[in-house]
Amino acid sequence: MTQDELKKAVGWAALEYVKPGTVVGVGTGSTASHFIDALGTMKDQIEGAVSSSEASTEKLKSLGIPVFDCNEVDSLDIYVDGADEINAQMQMIKGGGAALTREKIIAAVAKKFICIIDESKQVDVLGKFPLPVEVIPMACSYVARELVKLGGTPVYRQNVITDNGNVILDVHNLTILNPIELENKINAIAGVVTVGLFANRGANVVLVGSSNGVKTITE
Ligand code: 5RP
Repeated sequence: MTQDELKKAVGWAALEYVKPGTVVGVGTGSTASHFIDALGTMKDQIEGAVSSSEASTEKLKSLGIPVFDCNEVDSLDIYVDGADEINAQMQMIKGGGAALTREKIIAAVAKKFICIIDESKQVDVLGKFPLPVEVIPMACSYVARELVKLGGTPVYRQNVITDNGNVILDVHNLTILNPIELENKINAIAGVVTVGLFANRGANVVLVGSSNGVKTITE
């Protein structure tokens, strides 16, 4: 199976976690895009979705799924999204698609984070995938210097402005042995909007696509 076929398999497998009559939190990226296709088949049974990016919003609307502002919902049962890396503790690096801030907000609101990945995303130690950090533009140089002090090599993501009007620094050369500590340290740097480490709030369920089928990992 190709990587995209594995992503499709987990995207569709996540449908079993969608409860009729609810609003569903929806992520961003190629795996989440397969989930949106699957969700389209249930559009008459759900109330709608809260979306983590303009791209996902556009796709949801094109399939006739109502999209709510996050402020309109008190709680969400589930948030379904992919990841760039995930470890055995279900902590993740996210933000390859630059949607990390809205993703983190919806993940915080949701009771359950259902992470959908192909098996290439599973790692022992986070950090090989450059860690995305969303930064207020005027703070970019300062934040970059602070990230160097933490041992990383920040690289400005060219030609990308986030849905929130900010820029992304991708931090290379990190071996993240204590993800919660690093998440808290980077979040504390003035000018950082969000770091793409999802360690304080990790996933609750992981659906892993492999050539042997979809494996479910729970807490
Ligand atoms: C977007 C994300 C995505 O979940 C992550 O980049 C994985 O993407 P894909 O499903 O395309 O491999 O965090 O900001």
